[in-house]
Amino acid sequence: MRIDVLTLFPAMFESPLSYSILKRAQESDIVEIVLTDIRDFATDRYRKVDDKPYGGGPGMVMMPGPVFDCFEYVEKLSPEKGRVILLTPQGQKFDQKKAVELSKEKRLILIAGRYEGFDERIRIGLCAEQISIGDFVLSGGELAAMVIVDAVVRLLAGALGDEGSAGDDSFSEGLLEYPQYTRPEVFRDMKVPEVLLSGDHEKIARWRRQMALERTKKHRPDLLKNNF
Ligand SMILES: C[S@@+](CC[C@H](N)C(=O)[O-])C[C@H]1O[C@@H](n2cnc3c(N)ncnc32)[C@H](O)[C@@H]1O
Repeated sequence: MRIDVLTLFPAMFESPLSYSILKRAQESDIVEIVLTDIRDFATDRYRKVDDKPYGGGPGMVMMPGPVFDCFEYVEKLSPEKGRVILLTPQGQKFDQKKAVELSKEKRLILIAGRYEGFDERIRIGLCAEQISIGDFVLSGGELAAMVIVDAVVRLLAGALGDEGSAGDDSFSEGLLEYPQYTRPEVFRDMKVPEVLLSGDHEKIARWRRQMALERTKKHRPDLLKNNF
């Protein structure tokens, strides 16, 4: 997979992309992540990419010119057309189902906004899919893009050390994950459930399913309503 990110702050991505799963996935060519600075496409000598909103009001709006020019440049960097995603709190809410859907694409192009957001013609002209990572407002789309990159890349074949582990994660089967334990067997008087020490794999699988159901019913009953 190739993921292009259009952003005014490419340096914000350096650290998250340099550790653990995301780092390994890039090193083993499972994913190529390319950052492009929208500001490089500003046309004036101040490298201006934002301006005051027509009609008045607070803040600045991202100008269409630099975003369009940047997008048209990035689009041509690979023959694969890609799925274009505009990060905005007004978009469709991101979830594990969407992550799975996006992980099947060959190329994603993510566009991160800043300031008061995008000039409306960016939305209209790019015909991009709009995605929100939740009902709250961030200062910029960079963190939202990182959330999507992380959630998608860990689903790519070979990205996780243990191929099975993404399948057990919360939401992958419409349920929260069952409780997990590791050593020691007893910690501050809290004991690992006997069944997990039994070695009986069928019994363990049944217990985990039961726990996942109970946990989901208690903490996220909405998931049961939507999926069962
Ligand atoms: C301060 S926000 C602009 C919010 C805009 N004024 C509004 O009310 O819809 C700046 C940028 O952060 C990003 N952003 C903020 N919250 C987000 C969210 N929940 N999901 C995805 N992107 C978000 C978007 O790219 C947005 O253009």
